[in-house]
Amino acid sequence: MGKQRIFSGIQATGSLHLGNYLGAIRNWVKMQVEYDNYFCVVDLHTITVPQDPQILRANIREVAGFLFAAGIAEENSVVFIQSHVKAHSELAWLLNCITPMGWLQRMIQFKEKSEKQKEDVSVGLYNYPVLQAADILLYDTNLVPVGEDQKQHVELCRDIAQRFNYRYGEIFVLPDVYIPPIGGRVMGLSNPDKKMSKSEEKKDEAIFLLDSPEEIRLKIQRATTDSLREICFDDKRSGINNLLTIYQLLTEKTREQIEEHFVGKSYKDLKEELAEVIIGSLHPIQERYREITEEKGYLDKMLNRGAERAGDYAERKLQMILKHIGLR
Ligand code: TYM
Repeated sequence: MGKQRIFSGIQATGSLHLGNYLGAIRNWVKMQVEYDNYFCVVDLHTITVPQDPQILRANIREVAGFLFAAGIAEENSVVFIQSHVKAHSELAWLLNCITPMGWLQRMIQFKEKSEKQKEDVSVGLYNYPVLQAADILLYDTNLVPVGEDQKQHVELCRDIAQRFNYRYGEIFVLPDVYIPPIGGRVMGLSNPDKKMSKSEEKKDEAIFLLDSPEEIRLKIQRATTDSLREICFDDKRSGINNLLTIYQLLTEKTREQIEEHFVGKSYKDLKEELAEVIIGSLHPIQERYREITEEKGYLDKMLNRGAERAGDYAERKLQMILKHIGLR
């Protein structure tokens, strides 16, 4: 039996944060040896909201560079840019034609994002999950490792695949979602009741993967906690719970070991230690990222090879789909 296949994607919005790393990228790195993997910088998803062309171009490279810096390796994984493989857009159209509008109206992310943009909302943002389904289904994906916020999109992808198979025959593999038992939803630092995300208004909300040690210390020092004293995991105390969870994810200690370690210590002690743990964990990735971006031509070479490998697979699959629909 061959290896099972993983597909996952990440937007090119720039400034990846600790949520992206702990909820997704780090698991991709850990799982990659056991699976056959495709990791995609989804630039076509990124343009569903307005982007400055020059900044977008730089962000696409930054995110791709980070995947390699974090430890995604060519021996195990294909890393590529979505718009370099045309079959993604083409399959998205074919899937659009069988996806009921009502299914998309239920998508939580669309509701949240469209509320912010009001009447400027694009059709692309609305059928964003159909393009995501195309990404996954083109590669006969078995498993999609993502953070919790993507669960609904992967479930929709399964529904679309099932509907397609019912109409045209067994063409698509039904993918399962993988959400890490811990870290599937890393919360914001200043507002720990919301997931960590890039926010224009609140710069302290997220730790970015390129943050300097000083920035990390300051952000953690300012993170919202509560007026209690005891340092323990407790869902009802979202601030302290989030800090401890990040600590747990990065040190890989058990909850008991961590609680015991902090007996008699203050929030200040926890924050100081946590900041150093984060700095220590990000340091090697930041170093490698600098090496990658300084080596002329390296990233282009890797991404060209990735697009070729992904393109071969996707094009073959697409031809087969076109035949089943009656377009060839
Ligand atoms: P994106 O770019 O928003 O996020 C990339 C990955 O990071 C995870 N993530 C988090 N995990 C834990 N805590 C957080 N605070 C946090 N914030 C983000 C996301 O869950 C995701 O796994 N629609 C997708 C991209 C996509 C895709 C795909 C994913 C396009 N096609 C196909 C899987 C398969 C997105 O916007 O992810």
